[in-house]
This record gives sequence, C-alpha cells and structure tokens, in this order.
Amino acid sequence: MSETLENLLQETRRFEPPGDLAADANVKADAYEQAGADRLAFWATQAGRLDWTKQWDQVLDWSNPPFAKWFVGGTLNVAYNCLDRHIEAGRGAKVAIHFEGEPGDRRTITYSDLHTSVCRAANALTALGIEPGDRVAIYMPMIPEAAVAMLACARIGATHSVVFGGFSVDALKGRIQDADAKLVITADGGYRRGKPSALKPTVDESVAECPSVEHVLVVRRTGEDVSWTDGRDLWWHEVVETADPVHEAQPMDAEHPLFILYTSGTTAKPKGILHTTGGYLTQVSYTFNAVFDHKPDTDVYWCTADIGWVTGHSYIVYGPLSNGATQVMYEGTPDTPHRGRFWEIVQQYKVSILYTAPTLIRTMMKWGDDIPAEYDLSSLRILGSVGEPINPEAWIWYRQTIGRGETPVVDTWWQTETGGIMISPLPGVTATKPGSAMRPLPGIVADVVDDQGNSVPNGGGGYLVLREPWPSMLRTIWGDDQRFIETYWSRFSNMYFAGDGAKRDEDGDLWLLGRVDDVMLVSGHNISTTEVESALVSHPKVAESAVVGATDPTTGQAIVAFVILRGAAEGDDALLGELRDHVAKTLGPIAKPRQIMLVPELPKTRSGKIMRRLLRDVAERRSLGDVTTLQDSTVMDLIQNGMSAGK
Ligand code: WT7
Repeated sequence: MSETLENLLQETRRFEPPGDLAADANVKADAYEQAGADRLAFWATQAGRLDWTKQWDQVLDWSNPPFAKWFVGGTLNVAYNCLDRHIEAGRGAKVAIHFEGEPGDRRTITYSDLHTSVCRAANALTALGIEPGDRVAIYMPMIPEAAVAMLACARIGATHSVVFGGFSVDALKGRIQDADAKLVITADGGYRRGKPSALKPTVDESVAECPSVEHVLVVRRTGEDVSWTDGRDLWWHEVVETADPVHEAQPMDAEHPLFILYTSGTTAKPKGILHTTGGYLTQVSYTFNAVFDHKPDTDVYWCTADIGWVTGHSYIVYGPLSNGATQVMYEGTPDTPHRGRFWEIVQQYKVSILYTAPTLIRTMMKWGDDIPAEYDLSSLRILGSVGEPINPEAWIWYRQTIGRGETPVVDTWWQTETGGIMISPLPGVTATKPGSAMRPLPGIVADVVDDQGNSVPNGGGGYLVLREPWPSMLRTIWGDDQRFIETYWSRFSNMYFAGDGAKRDEDGDLWLLGRVDDVMLVSGHNISTTEVESALVSHPKVAESAVVGATDPTTGQAIVAFVILRGAAEGDDALLGELRDHVAKTLGPIAKPRQIMLVPELPKTRSGKIMRRLLRDVAERRSLGDVTTLQDSTVMDLIQNGMSAGK
C-alpha cells in the first residue's frame, strides 16, 4: 500500500446519527443481519413492498451467469406501482410533483393528475402503434411531461431510451439508431440560463437519418417557432391531452425491458445499458426508502439531477413515485436568475431531503457561505451526494453550512449499470466519515480486490467489485452480450468489475477513489487523483481542483493540479508554494504536485464529471482532443488564456 493511502486514512471525524432520527428510522441495523443471513429472502421481502399481478416462482435464476433473472415468473406493472396503487389507497390528492420552471412558472401535480396524464399518454402511444417491447426515445427538458412520457412507456411495456437534452445531433442520432426507436418524444425546447434553448431542430436533424422513426411527438414548452414535418410530427397537446384518460395498466414479466440508458462513454461507442422491470423497481424503491429514510406523510424530496441521467430515472421517477413521495422538480440551472436559486427552492417548498452532486456542492462553496445564509434551510433533515467521490471538505461544508451541522450526509455510490444505490450510509444507523461511502447496503456484496482478484485486508486498496448479483443490475448491453461480458465480467472471474478504485480502511469502511483510469503512477506509487484533489480542497483558499498525471521523464507520471481559488483569494507564487507544501503535508511528499495552475473554470461534461483527458492535453502541452461533450465549450479557452502557472 502506498504512503498516501495511509495518510488519507487519518481522517478521524465521525458523525453519529441524530438520536431521534435513529429511533424512528425506516431501516435499522438488523437489516444487515437479515440480509447477511439470507440475501435472497431479504430481496424477496423488499419485492413484497411492491404490488405484483403474479407472484414470482424463483427469486434469482443465476444458472447462466452473468445473465441474471430476478423474480422469475412474476408479473407487475411499474406505472401501476408508481401511481394507481397510491390512488387506490386514498392518496390521489397528495402532491407528486411541485414543478418549478426556470422562468419561475409553477405547477402542482397530484398523484391523480399524474395518473390521468400518464393514462392519456399511454392511450396516445398505443394509438400511434407503439407495442410492448418497441423502443421510444425521449429527448426532453426537465419538465413533468418527461416523467409522464417515461411512465406511459412503462405502462404499455414500451422500452424507453432517454437521451439527455443537452446532447448533440450525433449523440442523439447514434442512440436512436442503436435502439431502432420507433417514436421520439421531445419538446420545442426548454429554458436554460434565462433563455429558451431549442430541442426540436436537433431532433429534426437527427431523425433525418433514422429510418426507424415513424413519429415525433412534441411538447410545447417555450412556444418558439419550430419546423414541422407533416405526417411525422404531432403536438402533444393535440394527441395526448385529448386522449382517453382511462387506461388499464398491463402486467409485464419481471424481466421485461423497462429502459435503455446510454453511458456517456468518453472514448468508445456509448453502451446501451439495459434495465428490466421487477428487480429494478424492487431495488430503487427499497433504497429510496432506506437511504433517504423517506417518510411519505411529511417529507418533501428534491433531487437536482436531470432525467437524462440514471439518477433522474431511479431517484426522480421510479424510486420516489413508487414510494408515493412528494418531490420538487426544477427545470433550470442553479444560478438563474441568481446564485441563491437552489436555497430559495428549498425554502419555498420546505424541502427535507436533498440529493445533489459534489460538483454542485463545490460550486456553492465557491460562491460563498453568505448566499445560503440568506435562506431558511431548517426543513432539511437528510443530505445526499452522488456522482463522484465527495472530498471530505466539501462533505463537511455540506453538513455544516447547508445541514446546520446536524443532518446526516449520505454519500451514495452506484452507477448507470447498477441501476440503484449500492454503497451508502444508512442515516439512522451509520456513524459517517466525511468522504467515505461507508458500507454496501443490506443485500449487496461488494469487495475490494488486488490485481489477482484476492480480497485486500483492512487498510488496503485495489479495485471495487461486486461479488453477488443484485436485483437492479444491468442485464446486458443492448444488442451486444459479448461486450457486456468483456466490459464487466472478464477482468476478474465470477465478479462484476465496476471500473473504480477503492480502499477499505481499518474499520472495513469503503473509500471510493474514482475510475481506475484516473489513478496516477508516480515513481512507482499509485496515487489517485481524488486523494490529491481532496488535499487541495482542504486548503482554505481552494474552492475546486482537478488533478492529472502528466508524462514525466524521471517519475513516469508527475502530478499536475488545476486549481480554482475561493471567492476573492489572490494567487501568487507564494500561494502556489503553500499549496504544494499543503499537499505534501497532508498526503506525504510523494504526492506533492510538480505543478499547480490557477484557472477560472474546469472542463466538465454535462453530467458534471471533470474531463481529465483535456487537462492532461494541457499539462502535456498537446493540442486538445475532442471537446464536443463539454458542458461549456469555451471553458478550455478560458483555461488556456487565464492560466497562471506555478512550478
Ligand atoms: C461512476 C458512475 C450513480 C449515478 C450517477 C453517475 C462515480 C458515482 C459516486 C460516489 C465516488 C462515485 C464512479 C462510478 N461515482 N457515485 N458516491 N463516490 N464515485 O452514474 O455516470 O454511470 O457514473 O460515477 O466512478 O463508477 P454514472
């Protein structure tokens, strides 16, 4: 084990669950024992939280690994579980979605309202010839109709493929073609940063080369002019809002394909991750209840992700709605029209559970504490994080500044492929450590292994794997079983390889270190970019950082750090020296960056992941590779022009 690993394990802060929360928690410590004693019986109990039209014969069929079948022989309808059963239980008047548009328009949608919309859409889709198993592409802004479209597909057994509304023509076209989608559901546009942002032109250009597409169904959101192809294009308000509001949900096989979602794929062709019905809903529904300790009568939940990512699928649509939650859905960006927008929304709707990403938390830190201080955040009781490792300092800031120093922070590790949360604290059980996702949830068997696939002892580091199948696991890569086997099941035998580095501390708790491709090899030591970034962010003047390994003639790779300073901090050579020393002191001399560059922004994908590949190009003074997946394509110019380089 490298020196730096030992140093990072020195994080000693611990946060016990609040006593009242622990006493009243949905899930208590015995869940680990139950799942440990009989994992399949545990998952069968969780599946029993749903309404099935036909009971399964077998919990798991793992006779042909890695192809799993969960709840074999069972049937259920996902939309029924998300809507009808709440209405039948007398909760139709409960608010399902408080929608907040970026321009400030609001809609309050009850479970009955949502049910009616979904039934109409299901009838409209059927009238357009969509049958069970057909693929439907959804390319939408963050508006309630996006959820309605997904649920309507689920209701009739069509397999949806949501494509993030920020993606380009090529990305959309490739995804429509790969899935042979028959229908595209879109909008004229949405609102982004204070102005309308069109979607329909991208669809028109994409669909021109997609012969499988028979119709394009268009929601009117911005009211801007759109070009129209008669016979192919249809308005949502003409076709869906006039359709019959009565629709009976059809039972689907537990293994019926629910959706395909393409992973970003920074280099190769995107992978169409396939999720199915019964196991997926079981796990996302259980984890929503367990990890957020969701109380249907009192909680107001808000997940700031976009529906185009798996977080939006599992923890905006299927997890919360299957639990009958009341949630906020926000269309826009966090700084439109001002930087207090998130906290204004929390105050307005009395949000009690907030689920967001480290990149946003660090951005809010950078904007300064006086912004959240202007709002009443006392409704918050659980704070969640997802998407990348959260640095201890960002974790502490989240708990202190947003959570009054009282609310549990749940750092949730999972992937598009895992479908639902896999590793996370339980807010009423776990004494958390800032920066650690802690333990696999009950029913999940994760491990950290070395190159040979042997478990590392406590205190060791290696690769994160999953040793047993789980209900919401991907079933394959759409149309490419071989690639499914090669990508996830070939690195180690009988284990799912997640592609992430991890370490297990002396207590057996897990620390995720990011993608293994982001581990640097400096003079023979493995150092993760995350560790150095966390060390930098723990300096009071640093708001954000990204670290890359650049080729170095003497050390193999050398550490190059890109740093954004907090608020008004001024950067000079003295500060750069101080930062390098700070890293050396925190992690050990081996982790001292060769070079630190102060930059105004960092290059991120639209899902908030830092594009280290581009920073490596800068660090190695190469011309830049492909920048088309950047959220903001001007940021690389900013970095290259505004950089003040230290030694
Ligand atoms: C990758 C999966 C999970 C939904 C959003 C991302 C990283 C995710 C954490 C976390 C450390 C994390 C991993 C993972 N990741 N959550 N809590 N701590 N790393 O889904 O786009 O499929 O990305 O995100 O590297 O493999 P995704």
